[in-house]
Amino acid sequence: MVTLAQWSVLLATAAPTVRGAVTVYGQIPMGHLTTSVASDAAPLPTLAAYDGLVLNPPTPPNPPVTEEYFQVPRDAAQLPGLSIPHSTASAFFGFSVEMSVITQTIGKNSTHIFPTFLNLMSNIVERSGEIWIRLGGNTQEYAKYHEGLFEDGRITQKEDSGTTQTTLRQSCTVLICSIMMANISALLPVKWFLGLPFNDTSVFHLEIAEFGQQILGDNLVGLQAGNEPDLYGRHGKRPEPYSPFDYNGELFELFDLIDQNPLIPVKDKFIAPSISHSEWTPEDVWNTGFIDHFRDRLFALTVERYPNNNCFAQFGVGTYQDPQTNFPMFLTHETAVSMNAGYVNSTLIAQQEGIPFIMFETNTASCGGFPGISQSYGAALWVLDWGLSMASHNFSNALLHVGGQNVYYNPWISPPTNQSSFNEWTVGSVFYSSLILAEVFGKSATGRIIDLGAPSPHTPAYAVYERDTLSKFVLFNMIDDPSGANNINAMVSVASGVPAQVRVKYLTADSVSSKTNIRWAGQTFGNNFEADGILKGDLDVVTIDCSVSENRCNIPLRAPSFAVVFMASDEVTGVGQATATFATTAHTKARNTATVDPAVLATSNGHSYQDRKNLGSTSHGSVTGHGVPQRAISAVAILTSMAVGGAFILNGVFRR
Ligand SMILES: *[C@@H]1O[C@H](CO)[C@@H](O)[C@H](O)[C@H]1NC(C)=O
Ligand SMILES: *[C@@H]1O[C@H](CO)[C@@H](O)[C@H](O)[C@H]1NC(C)=O
Ligand SMILES: *[C@@H]1O[C@H](CO)[C@@H](O)[C@H](O)[C@H]1NC(C)=O
Ligand SMILES: *[C@@H]1O[C@H](CO)[C@@H](O)[C@H](O)[C@H]1NC(C)=O
Ligand SMILES: *[C@@H]1O[C@H](CO)[C@@H](O)[C@H](O)[C@H]1NC(C)=O
Ligand SMILES: *[C@@H]1O[C@H](CO)[C@@H](O)[C@H](O)[C@H]1NC(C)=O
Repeated sequence: MVTLAQWSVLLATAAPTVRGAVTVYGQIPMGHLTTSVASDAAPLPTLAAYDGLVLNPPTPPNPPVTEEYFQVPRDAAQLPGLSIPHSTASAFFGFSVEMSVITQTIGKNSTHIFPTFLNLMSNIVERSGEIWIRLGGNTQEYAKYHEGLFEDGRITQKEDSGTTQTTLRQSCTVLICSIMMANISALLPVKWFLGLPFNDTSVFHLEIAEFGQQILGDNLVGLQAGNEPDLYGRHGKRPEPYSPFDYNGELFELFDLIDQNPLIPVKDKFIAPSISHSEWTPEDVWNTGFIDHFRDRLFALTVERYPNNNCFAQFGVGTYQDPQTNFPMFLTHETAVSMNAGYVNSTLIAQQEGIPFIMFETNTASCGGFPGISQSYGAALWVLDWGLSMASHNFSNALLHVGGQNVYYNPWISPPTNQSSFNEWTVGSVFYSSLILAEVFGKSATGRIIDLGAPSPHTPAYAVYERDTLSKFVLFNMIDDPSGANNINAMVSVASGVPAQVRVKYLTADSVSSKTNIRWAGQTFGNNFEADGILKGDLDVVTIDCSVSENRCNIPLRAPSFAVVFMASDEVTGVGQATATFATTAHTKARNTATVDPAVLATSNGHSYQDRKNLGSTSHGSVTGHGVPQRAISAVAILTSMAVGGAFILNGVFRR
């Protein structure tokens, strides 16, 4: 009799992964069986990460928007106002993982890295070449050196989400975290930022810098010195008033210490000022002489920003923000444009200094996001527009925040620990936004973008140039209108003439409120508790014939929709699921067609359904209340398809 643990090792080794299979241990998902659980019947409605609220879409405009027209030159030289080249190696959107939730999102320790996490990152780097991940957030302020693991074998002390200063008692064991990060970078081109603890700088705790540099080497992009320092006064971390001059003073002290510390050999890759735009504007910081003081120490200038907050509902702070009332602000281009207006001086300064300007932490709303909004297709559209608008305003990169089980906006999250033996992961709608921007800018490191100034605020539009030549149009219809009255014919035109054909990839869902069946070019990670990080379904790239005589291509944009129009014939549109995968499940030879759950293989080699039911730490039935009979039926269906030849068909597993 083979135990489950042995199975996971056997399967991990047997699976046709590209590299590193042996370093990655499956978490033994009994997973696909649970896809018969409707996602609207989430097992734990109390956890924000699986919020079931579906909002009403905003009322469509009347008179409706039915057509729009954009013409651009083919050559970048003829188009003033294009952004800087997006030439940092990383995908435009990286991730910012709250330090306290590493064990919910990345791995348990250096030997237990989550394969689903690796599969998701693999899909990003397939498109961009590299990705940046920051470990930090409010919880970084208290991170401290800890010898070895905590009692339970974990690398963090407490798993609850530390989204505010009130819930923090968190420490990452620096040594183990760094080793895990290095192990991840050995598998995939993932590069890291770490945050230095700034709660109490009367004594600087620099072990994170020492171990980080020593263990991660070049895979450490930079160290963040201070997180949202403009809030230190208000949040009681410093005596008030705490000014940008005080912050300068602390950084001078920090760099004095670093200069004396031989264990921190890299002294010029720091990240600052990371202000939240709450108490200080960027100009307040620049006006202190900040750039002159620290230019030689900095890898990048950084800010952090959310368009709204849900602090009242989460913590009783501020005023109540009703999700339904706030939904429309996420479905208009004006939100991104007005937020970016505050950074025009700053991105220019960064350009003049020749350093990146990074949005170091963002998402739909601080204090955890909003129910109904943060996991919706509408949120994916907003994050796409916010990212493209930042890119056109000369931000170099942005990091989407990942907050854990208690927040609404996670790009990805593991199942709650007591369900990890039978549920798969959850991929949030905003993960698609990061995947798509990785594809929009690609690997050429020459991508430049411009906001085309669409007449309707609900239909932002951009043009992207690579190697100084038009490569893509990016088009939105943020209007939700099932009647079809606001379906748009977007006419795109090139001054020197359109090609005979263009290829189009759509991000689709039924409605801006939808939280299920979100697909990028036909492929999806699945609904809540269905994801293993691998895109499922056939890649669907639409070919559209253009009218060369009228010099335009008519791109249909149903209400709602999002489209990337690939203009250049040599453009790589064929990228779907990444070729590098990591085994949570064994795969058949053909990519994108089938997955076989380890549990199914276990069954076919002698375990019965009854055995499997008893193996999980929790009984399935107790989770959903409607589990057991359905599961039994699913198991029979799976066994039947195994019997007829082992080619396990996606439709059978991946029901919705
Ligand atoms: C992880 O990295 C450490 C330190 O570099 C190394 O000793 C260890 O073998 C790695 N573990 C795996 C599983 O790759
Ligand atoms: C890593 O975590 C797993 C699961 O919690 C545990 O079984 C294992 O012993 C840990 N590894 C180390 C090196 O402690
Ligand atoms: C933060 O620093 C203060 C001293 O300024 C200290 O009293 C407090 O315990 C620290 N908080 C944590 C969680 O370490
Ligand atoms: C940008 O800089 C100009 C010139 O220094 C200044 O007048 C303006 O107020 C600045 N913008 C912001 C948002 O502070
Ligand atoms: C971005 O930078 C480019 C190049 O310096 C400049 O032409 C453009 O106006 C800037 N865009 C914005 C929105 O500031
Ligand atoms: C999992 O743990 C949570 C929190 O302790 C609890 O509320 C929930 O009922 C548990 N679920 C199962 C299936 O045991």
